[in-house]
Amino acid sequence: MSAPIFLGVNVDHVATLRQARGTRYPDPVHAALQAEMAGADGITMHLREDRRHIQDHDIERFTTCVQTKLNFEIAATDAMQAMAIRLKPRDVCLVPEKREELTTEGGLDVAGDETRLHAYTQRLMEHDIRVSLFIDPDERQIDASVRTGAQVIELHTGAYADADSEAAMDAELQRIVSASRYAIDAGLIVNAGHGLHTKNVAAIARIPQIHELNIGHSLIADAVFLGLADAVSTMKRLMVEARSA
Ligand code: PXP
Repeated sequence: MSAPIFLGVNVDHVATLRQARGTRYPDPVHAALQAEMAGADGITMHLREDRRHIQDHDIERFTTCVQTKLNFEIAATDAMQAMAIRLKPRDVCLVPEKREELTTEGGLDVAGDETRLHAYTQRLMEHDIRVSLFIDPDERQIDASVRTGAQVIELHTGAYADADSEAAMDAELQRIVSASRYAIDAGLIVNAGHGLHTKNVAAIARIPQIHELNIGHSLIADAVFLGLADAVSTMKRLMVEARSA
């Protein structure tokens, strides 16, 4: 029997809509609770340095009512580390962050910043926080991730999702397949995400080594037409069907 596959729902873009007008609605915490009821296995919130979507109070409120688990996505700064240690989410996912980017554009360069990320990861682990490193599907980055002591990696699927031909998409898929095998053999838990939607999720969900997919933008976009509960349950069904096919 194949291993189960889990869905982490990223609610950042509910907050994007709220911040666009400075209103109190829509509330990403409300969205997170609804996503959990619709079958999400976890919730991701990315507190960016520029606070363009999720705000500190969103994270604070959600940690008091989370039903599944919070994956707190942050850049590896001292201020974010202090907040994580105070709030104790189940997972922290470390990502690179650039102010001018529209979204997280590439994976974290763990190999190029290994000593600092090792210390950063160890400090979070001392507080019982599981650390996930968001990296490109690249063996060098996987080896460096293992050396930091992190238990989890999340493979960046953006190049796969954005590929402009079938051949390019297939080549990117193969990179993710090989990286997943390599990382499992190295003892890591392997998650993946970025740019996934109902039309491209199956090929990734089928990779047996992948434990969890983190999906945000397309789910919130689909929710405009379907409602969030429908969008989440449809995504989860497509993932489970692909995994068990
Ligand atoms: N995983 C990580 C680490 C991310 O930074 C993001 C984007 O915030 C996602 C998953 C979700 O990507 P998308 O919004 O494209 O589904």
